[in-house]
Amino acid sequence: MFHFAEPQTAHLYKISAAMAVVLTVLVASSLAWDVFSVRRHTEELASKEARSLFNKDYAFRLWAAKHGGVYVPIDAETPPNPNLAHIPERDITTPSGRTLTLMNPAYMSRQIMNDFSALFNIRGKITTFPDKLLNPDNAPDAWELAALNAFQQGQAEISEFVELDDQPFLRFMRPLLIEQSCLKCHGVQGYQVGDLRGGIGVYVPMIDYLVAEKNHINVMVLTHGLIWLLSLGAIWAATRRSAAQIKQRLEAEEALRQAQKMDALGGLAGGIAHEINNMLLPIISLAQMTIKDVPDGSRQQKRLEKVVEAGMRAKSLVSGILSFSHRADVDVAKQRVNIVEAIEESLSLLRMALPSTISFETNLDLNTGHIVCDPTQISSVVLNLGSNAADAMAGRIGKITLSLAPVVISEELAQSIGNITPGKFAKLTVSDTGQGIAQQQLERIFDPFYTTKEVGKGTGLGLTMAYGVISQHNGAIAVSSEVGVGTTFTIYLPLVD
Ligand code: HEC
Ligand SMILES: Nc1ncnc2c1ncn2[C@@H]1O[C@H](COP(=O)(O)OP(=O)(O)O)[C@@H](O)[C@H]1O
Ligand SMILES: [Mg+2]
Repeated sequence: MFHFAEPQTAHLYKISAAMAVVLTVLVASSLAWDVFSVRRHTEELASKEARSLFNKDYAFRLWAAKHGGVYVPIDAETPPNPNLAHIPERDITTPSGRTLTLMNPAYMSRQIMNDFSALFNIRGKITTFPDKLLNPDNAPDAWELAALNAFQQGQAEISEFVELDDQPFLRFMRPLLIEQSCLKCHGVQGYQVGDLRGGIGVYVPMIDYLVAEKNHINVMVLTHGLIWLLSLGAIWAATRRSAAQIKQRLEAEEALRQAQKMDALGGLAGGIAHEINNMLLPIISLAQMTIKDVPDGSRQQKRLEKVVEAGMRAKSLVSGILSFSHRADVDVAKQRVNIVEAIEESLSLLRMALPSTISFETNLDLNTGHIVCDPTQISSVVLNLGSNAADAMAGRIGKITLSLAPVVISEELAQSIGNITPGKFAKLTVSDTGQGIAQQQLERIFDPFYTTKEVGKGTGLGLTMAYGVISQHNGAIAVSSEVGVGTTFTIYLPLVD
C-alpha cells in the first residue's frame, strides 16, 4: 500500500553485483590461463619439431664425419671442395674412369639445406666464430654469434621465436664439439677433441602452429564469452526475481500491519463512539420533545434548538467514526448500481466547488461495471478525496485527474494491496499535482483525527471515513505520493455481474 525505501533490496543488489564481479574475474582468469596453456603447448610442439629435425641433421653429420666424409660423383653443383685441398685423395677415379670427390659433413649439410629448404620451408645453418671460419657462406649472423658465445659459456642449447622475412620462426641451435673423427680435416686448424668447433641450428616455420593456435584461442574466447554472458544473465534474472519477491513480501507485511492498526484503532474509537452515540440519543430526542413543550419562539426553544443542532453535529461526527470502525450502527443501504452513476453526483459537486485555479479532468470508462454499494457513501468518499486534493493545491494552479476503469487483480497484486480477494475490480484513482505527502506522514493519514490542517479547517476524519467505507465494501484504498509532485489515491471496489 505504501512505498518504502528497501534496504533488503539494496543488499540483494550488492550481493548480485559482487557475484557478477567474482564471475567476471573467474571467467577472465580461466581464459587467461587457457590462452597461456595453448601458447605454451604451441611452443612445446615447435621445440619438439625443432629438436627432432636437429637430431636427424646431426645424425647425418656424425655419420658422414665417422666415415671421414663421403665420396660422391663430381658435377656442376658438387665441385671438389677447395677447403679440402690439403686432404690426400680428395678426388679419386674409379676403375671404370668416373671421378669422385670427398664431401665433408659441413659441405653435405649445406647442400642438403640449400636443396631442401625451399621444398620443406625448413632452414638449417652450420656456423662458427668468424676467425675460425673456413667457408664464408657459413658466417654467423648476430643471433648466431650470440648463441656461439653462449655455448662458449657452457650453454647446451639456445632457442628463440623470431621474425624472418616477415615470417615467424622458431630458431634452435646446439654446439658442435670436435671429436676424433673431425680431426682428419679440422686438425690443421689446431683443434683438439672437446673444443667448440661451432654450432648447428634449424629454423622451424611457426605459421601453421600460429594459425592453429589462433583458431583454438578464438574458440576459447567464444566459449568463455558465452558462458560469461549466460551466467551474467542468470544472475540478473535471479536478482530480479528475488527483488520482486522481497518487494512483494514487504508490501504484504506493510498492508497487514496497516490493516491491523486500523482494526485496533477502529475497535477503540468505535467503542467510544458507540457509547457517545447511545448518550446522544436521549440528549437529542429529549431536547426535541422538550422543544414541543415550550412556547414557540421563546428563548428556551431557541436554546433547545441549539442543543439539538450541536447534538446532530456530534452524531454525524460519531457516525463517521462508527462507519470507519465497521460498526453496524450506521445505516447502510447497499444496492447494485453502475459505479459511474454512484460517483456522478460527487463529480458535478466537485466541478462546481473547485476554484478556477484547479482544472478537473475525468477519464471514465463508462463500461466499468456494477458494484454493490451505498451510493451516498461512495460519493462522499470521492468528495473527500477531491477536497483533500484541492486543499493540497490551495492557492496554486493545479490539476485533479479522476480515472475509472475495470481491472483484474491477481493473487500477487491482491497481496500487495492487502485485504482484498483477487478478482475483477473497479479501479478509481484521484490524482493531484499538489504538495504531496512526506514518507513518514503516509503511514498516518488514515488515522482518526490525523490532520495537518489548521484547527477548524481539518477534522482528520475524511480519509478515516473513506478507509472505513471502502473496507465495508470489501474494497481497498491505497496511496502513493511524491513530495512536491503530487498524490494519487487509488480505490478498488469489487465488481459484480
Ligand atoms: C672430410 C673432412 C671433414 C671432416 C671429417 C669434418 N669436417 Fe668440418 N668442415 C670441413 C670443411 C672442408 C669445412 C669448410 C666448409 C665447407 O666446405 O662447407 C668444414 C666446416 C665445418 C664447420 C662450419 C664452419 C666453417 O668453418 O665453415 C663446422 C662447424 C664443422 N666443419 C664442424 C665439424 C665437426 C664438428 C666435425 C666432426 C664431427 C667435422 N667438421 C668433420 C671438413 C671436414
Ligand atoms: N491529496 C492530498 N495531498 C496532500 N496531503 C493529503 C492529501 N490527502 C490527504 N492528505 C493529508 O492527509 C491528512 C488527513 O486527511 P483527512 O483524513 O482527509 O483529514 P483532513 O482533510 O481533515 O485533514 C490531511 O491533513 C493531509 O495532511
Ligand atoms: Mg479531508
